[in-house]
This record gives sequence, structure tokens and C-alpha cells, in this order.
Amino acid sequence: MTGTGTHSTAPSAPAFPQDRSCPYHPPAGYPELAARGPVGRMTLFDGREVWAVTGHAEARALLADPRLSSDRKNPSFPVIVPRAADQARVAIPLLGFDDPEHARQRRMLIPSFSLKRVAAMRPHVQEIVDGRIDAMLAGGDRAELVSAFALPVPSMVICHLLGVPYADHDFFEARSRALLASPTAAESGAAREELRAYLHRLVDAKQDPAATPGDGLLDAFIAERLAAGRLDRDELVLMALILLVAGHETTANMIALGTYTLLEHPEQLAALRADPTLMPGAVEELLRYLSIADGMVRVATEDIELAGHTIRAGDGVLLPTSVINRDATTYERPDALDVQRSARHHVAFGYGVHQCLGQNLARAEMEIALTTLFARIPTLRLAVAPDEVPIKPGDTLQGLYALPVTW
Ligand code: HEM
Repeated sequence: MTGTGTHSTAPSAPAFPQDRSCPYHPPAGYPELAARGPVGRMTLFDGREVWAVTGHAEARALLADPRLSSDRKNPSFPVIVPRAADQARVAIPLLGFDDPEHARQRRMLIPSFSLKRVAAMRPHVQEIVDGRIDAMLAGGDRAELVSAFALPVPSMVICHLLGVPYADHDFFEARSRALLASPTAAESGAAREELRAYLHRLVDAKQDPAATPGDGLLDAFIAERLAAGRLDRDELVLMALILLVAGHETTANMIALGTYTLLEHPEQLAALRADPTLMPGAVEELLRYLSIADGMVRVATEDIELAGHTIRAGDGVLLPTSVINRDATTYERPDALDVQRSARHHVAFGYGVHQCLGQNLARAEMEIALTTLFARIPTLRLAVAPDEVPIKPGDTLQGLYALPVTW
């Protein structure tokens, strides 16, 4: 099959997104797409066909290719869910920009997310994790793990890092969920504007000469950049917004779904318990296996030849990570969870210039959360049947709405 960039290829291009029926496996219709070859086609909700890259090598080649753009203002940028219909209106820092603008923004933030900085944050993350487990244990012999643990841990960590009061967590967690999961662009946009207004008020409060100076990233940016006129105020607010949202929703899903997946693979959990040094590798494997950010999107700005196809300028490109991370040419027994394999090179954090800025922090949070949870509550188990656990639909970050557990 030779692509032309028009609609002349596979007549039955499968739909994107599709819902998972098992929370840790790709939707039933995705692997069939991969079976047709590393580069195929999928159909979006609005009827538009886009390229779907499912091969691991092909995905990494494309994600490193500057001819693919993340610029949501490009009128040809695919709208993958109805809530993204107005994506061109508010450019989200980093994710929605190409270099050199993207690189300028990223350079400002890189030092705060370096391995060294994250290593220094580990004792604080451990304290937060222990505090949540103390509270769970004090509450009896059962809990709902998403609200009691998986969500508050990364929320508290990102609040501390940014200098956002955790007391406001109900507000920003609900708006973040609405931003990422509302059915319509109006609802999602309204949530974004509420978060933006909230962060503007927070910057105002921090700039008040009577305020006690904080030591978060926002405080530092206000003092060093905003005050000196080196950073636009709305850009600062939007950078804080993406960090606040990406900083808790993603990792929360990984902690809850990672716990569920390990409980459902007792032999893997036993191996981890027997040798806790396996945890860093297990986190990589869980990232690969769960692929919670299941669908990166780009638009081609020039013609690109790939695997016998021609991706034309203006064509949309979709990269479903759940399929890419199970490419059998890269991973042996890709559908098996194996905490002892080397899952390196997965694309769960993306690849290329947009590769996840928060990945070091996310890894540390997952490692500390999972290690401590299973060590301190050795009898942890599901409190309901596995298929009664409510799972999120395919059009948002993948994960669980709730995880009832007992011990
Ligand atoms: C396990 C948790 C996480 C996963 C699976 C994840 C996944 C991703 C993915 C796939 C991308 C690339 C998107 C693309 O190329 O289109 C990305 C980018 C990004 N992530 Fe994460 N992320 C996680 C945690 C975090 C955390 C904790 C933060 C911040 C504290 C964060 C901040 C960002 C930012 C700012 C970007 C944009 C980077 C850029 O465009 O240069 N992420 N993430």
C-alpha cells in the first residue's frame, strides 16, 4: 500500500481513540493496525484520516524529525478529540510549540527537573508517601487508593515544587480533570480559563510586598524573570498551568494503574518483593506496558518518506504509544509484563525534543510510591473483582477512576 497523504489508503482505517477493555492492554482494535505494518492509517472522530505510526523504530525516527510539528496553530493540526477543537486559540507552552520557541521555554525549566534536583527532592517525596500511608492505615483496613494515595502524592509534590498551596487541591484537581477529559471544547476551555485565572491571582498574591516569600519555582520565576521584565506574565502562568496539570494527573494514573497491574501479576510482584533493587527497572516496564499517554499527535510540515509511504506536508500523524511500546521487533513477548526485562527505549515519555520534561521526577515518585506501598502494606489486595474497577475512556490519559483496596 502506498500512501498519498489523501484518503486513498486502507478503506477501513480503524477509529482513534478507542476504549481499553483491560486497563493495561491497548484497545482491541489497535494491535490489528500494527499487524498491517509499522505505518498505517486511523480515522478521527471528525472523519479525517491520519497516519498512525505503530513501529518502534519508525516512531522514534519521526519524533526526532523536525519536519513534524507540534504547532497547534497550524490549521492542518489534527483535532483528535472534540474538546481540542479550539486548541489553536491558546498555545500551551512547550507541548504546543516548535523550536526555537519551544527550546527557549524548555531551557528555562530544565534545571528544575534535572536528575540532581530530583535526587534532592526524594526525601520530601518519601515523607509525603509515608504520610499518606500512615493516614490510610489509621483509617481502617480498606481505602480507595486513587483519592487516598495515587492522586495526593504527585499533587503534593508538584505543589511544593511550584509553590502552589496544596490547600487548593480540590479546585485545581477538578479543573485539571475537566481540562483533560471534558466532552466539549467549551467545558475544557472553561476549566483552562479558571486555572489560568487562579494562577494569575496566585502570582498577584506572591507579588504583594507584604507576602512571605516562598521557595517554589513560581516564586523564583517571579523574582528573577518577571520582575526583571524577562518573562511575560501570561507565559509564566501558562507554564505553571501545564506543569501543575501534567505534574499530577499523569503520575497519579501511573501509580494507581501500576498498583492494579502488579496486584494482577502476583508472580511479578513477588519477584519485586524478593529483590527491591528491581524497582527502577519495574517502573520502566510499567511505563512501557501501561503507556498511559496513548496518542501523541503531530502535523507534517514537509513531505516525509517513511517505510514505503509518503507523508505529505499538512498530513496528520498519530503515535499510539501503547502499540509502539509493544512492537515485537523491539521487545520479546511484548504483551507480557516482565519486571526483569530491560524496557529502556520505550516511548511512554515521548521521544525527541518534546520528551517529557518531568520524567526524572515521575520516575522517582513512582519508585518511592510503589516500593513503600507494597513494603508497608504487604497484604494489600483489591477489595472488588478486577473487572469492577472503573477504567478511564480512550480519549484521555489512561488510568483508573477508583481503586478500592483492602489489607
Ligand atoms: C508517568 C508520568 C508521565 C508520563 C507518562 C508523561 C508523558 C509525557 C509524554 C508522552 C510527553 C510528550 C508529549 C509529546 O511529545 O507530544 C510529555 C511531555 C511533557 N511532560 Fe510528561 N509525563 C509524565 C509526568 C510528567 C510530570 C511529573 C511533569 C511535570 C512535573 C510532566 C511535564 C511534561 C511537560 C512540561 C511536557 C512537555 C515537554 C516539551 O514539550 O518539551 N510530565 N510527558
